[in-house]
Amino acid sequence: MSIKIGILGLGTVGCGVVQVLQQNAKDIQTRTHCDLQIKAILDRDLHRKRDVSGDFLLTDQPEEVLHDPEIDIIIEVMGGIEPARTFILEALKHGKNVVTANKDLIAVHGHELLDAANEAGKDLYFEASVGGGIPIIAALKESLSANKITHLLGIINGTTNYILTAMAEQGREYAEVLAEAQQLGYAEANPSSDVDGLDAARKLAILASIAFNSRVALNDVFVEGISKITREDLTYAAELGCTIKLLAVAKHQDEGIEVRVHPAILPLTHPLASVNGVFNAIYVVGDAVGETMFYGRGAGSLPTGSAIVSDVMRIARNLKSNSMSSINCTCYLDLPLKSSSD
Ligand code: NDP
Ligand code: HSE
Repeated sequence: MSIKIGILGLGTVGCGVVQVLQQNAKDIQTRTHCDLQIKAILDRDLHRKRDVSGDFLLTDQPEEVLHDPEIDIIIEVMGGIEPARTFILEALKHGKNVVTANKDLIAVHGHELLDAANEAGKDLYFEASVGGGIPIIAALKESLSANKITHLLGIINGTTNYILTAMAEQGREYAEVLAEAQQLGYAEANPSSDVDGLDAARKLAILASIAFNSRVALNDVFVEGISKITREDLTYAAELGCTIKLLAVAKHQDEGIEVRVHPAILPLTHPLASVNGVFNAIYVVGDAVGETMFYGRGAGSLPTGSAIVSDVMRIARNLKSNSMSSINCTCYLDLPLKSSSD
């Protein structure tokens, strides 16, 4: 079965998606029994030098991607609220399934978009919106779904962890390391989202909503970023056998749900103290499973591409099995009906 893909945005993550689809094309085909082809990509800059190329249309006209009747799956990796929200709604209206990495959008408009997908009978997946390449959303929605989740605790912003690690271990300047994180494609288009803790708060709202089966709004999350942390703070923490990390904490207790993002001093013996650089880790406690821990690269082109392409493959399998069940149904209906005398 041939499945055509349209991509909105050819920046850090868009290029990672193209690369993963191209370098693992054979395995992806074997695992999905589908031939996934990129048909068109939207970006406002058609001339910027990029590391990817291929047999697809690169256009600055949204309708050439969103309204193409051959395209089955739209991947939104432009970022921001608008026009990303309108484009996703438009894609669903035109019968496309959607994958997005956009936590800004999912944290605030996730329910509206999921309702629209439901109404259209289409899939909307967003694994890459939290934890880069770590499959945490699939774990919460599927593998851990038999549990009552009571706690989530994690490092869920790669940029700030990269900055704090370089300041603590190499004594480097905050501004210099932030510039490096931007150059490596870890930081958001507006990096104050990272350093002020908002990016982690968006991700925590998404995780807590799924884990606790509740609507946790972004405004519910207490947020404090890392911009006031100095090299001296990290030196004093080290003298006490500790380090400083930007933690995201969610607890579901009888009194209600507590959600907060803030810097915290951790003893070096704590499992999260050794999560360094762009790595993220999320510790999840469920009533049946007990303690679990998820670890991996929390940002970057290929890790994020990995999460997105896995969502695309999930949709491809759904499309394939829907097409098989309609074939079976047709065959069944085509069978001559037996008369009661047979
Ligand atoms: P980039 O800025 O690198 O890429 C976005 C691309 O989309 C840019 O080329 C941008 O053009 C283009 N674009 C934006 N708006 C429009 C528009 N209206 N019309 C046409 N083109 C547009 O961002 P990233 O790839 O880093 O991030 C993309 C999304 O993925 C964001 O939602 C981000 O939060 C999320 N994400 C990012 C991760 C990462 O590690 N970078 C990890 C996980 C999620 P221009 O440059 O001109 O603005
Ligand atoms: N800016 C984000 C981070 C990208 O640094 O974690 C991944 O969501």
